[in-house]
Amino acid sequence: MTQPRFSPAERRALIDALPKAELHLHIEGSLEPELLFELAKRNGVEIPYDSVEAVRAAYDFSNLQDFLDIYYQGMSVLRTERDFHDLTLAYLERVHADGVVHAEIFFDPQGHTERGIAFDTVMKGITSGLDEGQRRLGISHRLIMCFLRHLDEESAFATLEQARPWLDRLDGVGLDSSEVGHPPSKFERVFAEARAMGLFPTAHAGEEGPPAYVREALDLLGVKRLDHGNRALEDAALTERIAREGLVLTVCPFSNLKLCVIDDIADSPLKTMLDKGLKATVNSDDPAYFGGYIADNYHAVADALDLSREEILQLGRNAIEGSLLAPAERARHLAAIDAL
Ligand code: HPA
Ligand code: ZN
Repeated sequence: MTQPRFSPAERRALIDALPKAELHLHIEGSLEPELLFELAKRNGVEIPYDSVEAVRAAYDFSNLQDFLDIYYQGMSVLRTERDFHDLTLAYLERVHADGVVHAEIFFDPQGHTERGIAFDTVMKGITSGLDEGQRRLGISHRLIMCFLRHLDEESAFATLEQARPWLDRLDGVGLDSSEVGHPPSKFERVFAEARAMGLFPTAHAGEEGPPAYVREALDLLGVKRLDHGNRALEDAALTERIAREGLVLTVCPFSNLKLCVIDDIADSPLKTMLDKGLKATVNSDDPAYFGGYIADNYHAVADALDLSREEILQLGRNAIEGSLLAPAERARHLAAIDAL
């Protein structure tokens, strides 16, 4: 028998050693059932589950909306600055074990302000968690505020105004929640204002929505990164354009599987994207809900798609190059990857 060129054990070791940047992570989606219960008790919030097992059993989704309904319900236990701090630090501690060196974190302010939690409470808690993670674990970060696309433009503008005093702690804006029926065009003016404020623009597009939504994200929102982007592959000209412009795609394999965007992890578009010259990356999206953190996502796709050593390194480099890190920091992480 011939020796495999790159054995499963070697693949596992390479992924474990890879310095990782996570570019698509909703901090509210890292709320593990254990912390959900703890916060519900701490804050006297009623939740419709009587055990951690019952919570996990409810995480059986057939599409994005199924998930979002449970995700927004889960958020209701987050009430105080301390809650947001604990949530953020728990995520950073967990991914420190996965070799994450840099995390770009999404949060959904409207998911909190809509239920009476002050924007400042959310920001103070998340930023103090991020700062402690940087100090104690050495994980650098950027913070990206997402607009909920099922809400209207006026609400997004009001959120942008609330963000103004926090511009020194905010790095970008994103667009998430129910995609179909809420095209990027709805937020063209909000994104123009956000860009004028110096915020980096990114948006979820092509997760469930058609290639036309991806085009709108590029042409109308001026996004510099694409979150998911799976359905862009249905349009050859669009795919070529994304490759030519060097846009990074933040792909989320377990999320795609759990939300039935794909039927099997082997159907992840990651390898096809790499083959077409797209700068795809591996991310976890909402790891507490989708059954795995970033390293689990890497391992699952690498095994299912039989990724080569060079492809795994490329995924790692894409994430560092697609990050908002300063050039010197990027160069330091890329050198560490080159040394593997
Ligand atoms: N898609 C849209 N909205 C979201 C997601 C997602 O994958 N996760 C959290 N909010
Ligand atoms: Zn997402």
